[in-house]
Amino acid sequence: MAYKNILVEKKEGIATIIINRPKMLNALNTATIGDLTNAVNDLEKDKNIKVVILKGAGEKAFIAGADIKEMKDMNVLEAKQFAEAGHHMLSCIRQSRLPFIAMINGYALGGGCEVLMNCDITIAGRNAKLGQPEINLGISPGFCGTQCLPRLVGRAKAKELLLTGRNLDAEEAYQIGLVNMVVDNDKLEEETEKLAKKIASKSPVQTAFIKALVNMGTDIDMHSACALEVSYFSSSFSTHDQKEGMTAFLEKRKPVFKGK
Ligand code: CAA
Repeated sequence: MAYKNILVEKKEGIATIIINRPKMLNALNTATIGDLTNAVNDLEKDKNIKVVILKGAGEKAFIAGADIKEMKDMNVLEAKQFAEAGHHMLSCIRQSRLPFIAMINGYALGGGCEVLMNCDITIAGRNAKLGQPEINLGISPGFCGTQCLPRLVGRAKAKELLLTGRNLDAEEAYQIGLVNMVVDNDKLEEETEKLAKKIASKSPVQTAFIKALVNMGTDIDMHSACALEVSYFSSSFSTHDQKEGMTAFLEKRKPVFKGK
């Protein structure tokens, strides 16, 4: 599919989605949200792809939020449709079989912070600035921020950040568990690729299972979540990758996973 505001590159089982509006710090307008949704769904069907990296074009930003120019004159119905489109895009990322790595180069504010919270792993450069500044615009977050942030960092911290709208630097974001790792800016691309390659070398069946188990399991009660784990664990034994992984261990060699 052709996209207007994003680029999609594919190499050795890893797809990279680049949000490509650098002059507007990669702000998310309706067209970009549509492109991202379509790209996630296209990659879902591409059996050669095992991992997705999501990043922003340019040196300054991952995503500086939803597009304020586009939002300014929206009426209630338009704002609802805009928020629903954002939620749908994020739900496609959460439900994808593919692990998503958010690579944060610079600003990840508002909708940008909400996108990374719906990815699976976040790696940030030391120059990253994260936050939910919506309150400064006279709105509350609309792409899951009020729900994702407390789930990730706890209610008290989430309320402080949402109510003040202050930005966090990469180190503080790491301390509170909003990002997984922080690296020097000149190493960000390289470290992200290393991480993506490492995950791409695992069984794609199991990366999908683990993502689904963590995402679904942490939203339901412990008893049902454990039953879900038993069911996924046992169904692993119908796969080639389980036979291969255990045989390779016993034969003291590296496994060759096929995603079957
Ligand atoms: N929407 C639209 N345009 C944006 C934008 C956004 N979210 N963020 C930046 N831009 C535009 C600026 O308007 C500017 O455009 P012009 O050159 O045409 O004036 C260009 O990008 C560069 O930005 P700045 O000149 O402001 O760059 P800076 O380095 O001085 O500041 C910044 C960078 C601190 C990120 C600042 O741009 C900023 O505060 N941006 C807005 C951040 C924000 O409030 N995000 C939340 C949006 S609301 C939201 O996301 C709701 C939701 O949950 C769905």
